[in-house]
Amino acid sequence: MRRFEAGRVEIVKGDITRLAVGAIVNAANESLLGGGGVDGAIHRAAGPELLAECRLLGGARTGQAKITGGHRLPARHVIHAVGPVWRGGTAGEPAQLASCYRESLRLAGERGLADIAFPAISTGVYGYPLEPATRIALAEGKAGLARWTALARVVYCCFSERDLEVYERLAAELLGP
Ligand code: AR6
Repeated sequence: MRRFEAGRVEIVKGDITRLAVGAIVNAANESLLGGGGVDGAIHRAAGPELLAECRLLGGARTGQAKITGGHRLPARHVIHAVGPVWRGGTAGEPAQLASCYRESLRLAGERGLADIAFPAISTGVYGYPLEPATRIALAEGKAGLARWTALARVVYCCFSERDLEVYERLAAELLGP
């Protein structure tokens, strides 16, 4: 694990469903009714009560986020964010991905949560290239920490060694020590 921004940004490797934070963010799709990847892992770990709550949300558009309880997870809440499918980068994907992070941070900030953990949204099945996605994730996390005073910590949970290496390298470039 490495820390940046005076300890307020943490980069860890592992399974996001294990993190005991105020909210973990799910890389969801517009249905908000589950899927593969991190979405599937979160629904399996949270139990069927999460899907039941998600059915009440009425889906979400790309770039939006909605919050539920954490149910059987150690995290208190799940924020379901819909990242863009990569279409080459000129179809609004960067703004949509930034919106995912910003909206998730807003939901956490408005509830006064102290910490939030993100997976690498859109960089799996949705095909967003990892480096530009990571730059957006880190920039929005830093802005969120400045904007939401109760928010004390932003965690980036990397699932692979390769993702961890990219996050650590770009954080060293873009964030303070
Ligand atoms: N903890 C942390 N990160 C994880 C975990 C985990 N347990 N499992 C996978 N990842 P993806 P997307 C990483 O494909 O690209 C779903 O079907 C994974 O290695 O889960 O936004 C949804 O329902 C990758 O780095 O999300 C949507 O339909 C990152 O999470 C679609 O996939 C995101 O990969 C969303 O695609």
